[in-house]
Amino acid sequence: LEVPFRDTFGRPMRDLRLSVTDRCNFRCVYCMPKEKFGPHFSFLPPASLLTFDEIERLVRIFVSLGIRKVRITGGEPLLRPRIEELVARIRRVAPGVDLAMTTNGFLLAKKARALREAGLDRVTVSLDSLNPQTFRRLSGTNLLPELIVRGIDAAREAGFEVKVNMVVIRGENDADILPMARFFREKGVTLRFIEFMDVGTANDWNLERVVPAREILERISREMPLEPVHPEYFGEVAKRYRYVGSDVEIGFVTSVTQAFCSSCTRIRLTADGKLVTCLFAETGEDVRTLLRNGASDEEIVAKIREVWERRADHYSEIRLANTKKNRTKVEMFYVGG
Ligand code: GTP
Ligand code: 5AD
Ligand code: SF4
Ligand code: SF4
Repeated sequence: LEVPFRDTFGRPMRDLRLSVTDRCNFRCVYCMPKEKFGPHFSFLPPASLLTFDEIERLVRIFVSLGIRKVRITGGEPLLRPRIEELVARIRRVAPGVDLAMTTNGFLLAKKARALREAGLDRVTVSLDSLNPQTFRRLSGTNLLPELIVRGIDAAREAGFEVKVNMVVIRGENDADILPMARFFREKGVTLRFIEFMDVGTANDWNLERVVPAREILERISREMPLEPVHPEYFGEVAKRYRYVGSDVEIGFVTSVTQAFCSSCTRIRLTADGKLVTCLFAETGEDVRTLLRNGASDEEIVAKIREVWERRADHYSEIRLANTKKNRTKVEMFYVGG
């Protein structure tokens, strides 16, 4: 068996992004806008979710296939009951992987210690503004950004390396770029600016609302000089910079203005057990049925291999030719950030 598997463009399979629930206690305008995901929206029924046994088994198999990094996502992963137990089980079958989680931070102050003790290495917290009105508008909640900052602090106190993700939307929170940069530079936390993407079908994306990373970089470096930092490994998502004279970094996820599909090594597993090979996929490939029908490890490996080897995704490189078509797409909260 030659691992890692290579897809049709020769890209190896290296990172697994594991969605553990499609539910979320936030309603971010770019992901699950309130108007479309109201009180009657039907999320996955509990019985359709992969069990911890099933997830653990799949992770063990993925590790044997060369996966080096596992990111637990959602929805909001901290809403999955007994998530710390799942983390501990993943850690046990994947002792050497880089194990991270992406969260909105709401439950972090409460859960940080237990997650750390369970063996999680890193957390990434989504936070789009420090301005109360803007934060509330973008997150679709009545919360204050201080609550998320407290979650970030708690995670650091528990021993985590923490990064912050800020999705930038022109006319919504571009005025928050500098305040966010100053605040997290002061704290010594890596802030990453994410270009607003046309994931899913609900967020009214258009190119005019994307603030190019280049523009953000220019705005920040006028006040705080920056120098580039070389990538640490093949397929690193964010382009990294450091504030001159310090070791504090910022990063840019440039999916729209500088696509990074050519080094995309990510496979995604949805909470209900579908393999998805691109954030912009139309659909996924079911593995839950295989698991529940008693498939052997070899059969599961064969399925994963088949899915990866026929993979030809490069959506971000062909986005502008595609957004016009009314193509179906999986939702971000389903496939995982
Ligand atoms: P680190 O290991 O901490 O560097 O994490 P990462 O680089 O994988 O970043 P993270 O998982 O925090 O991803 C940041 C954001 O980048 C996600 O929330 C997505 O919005 C976007 N992103 C991540 N992976 C992809 C991808 O494969 N394609 C596209 N288009 N966007 C992605
Ligand atoms: N564009 C860019 N990033 C998005 N995310 C969710 N939806 C979008 C979108 N439309 C990212 C945010 C959040 C993570 C879970 O997913 O960065 O932090
Ligand atoms: Fe929830 Fe994250 Fe989607 Fe916001 S981006 S609605 S926090 S899953
Ligand atoms: Fe990978 Fe698809 Fe994102 Fe391109 S658009 S980097 S192929 S997930």
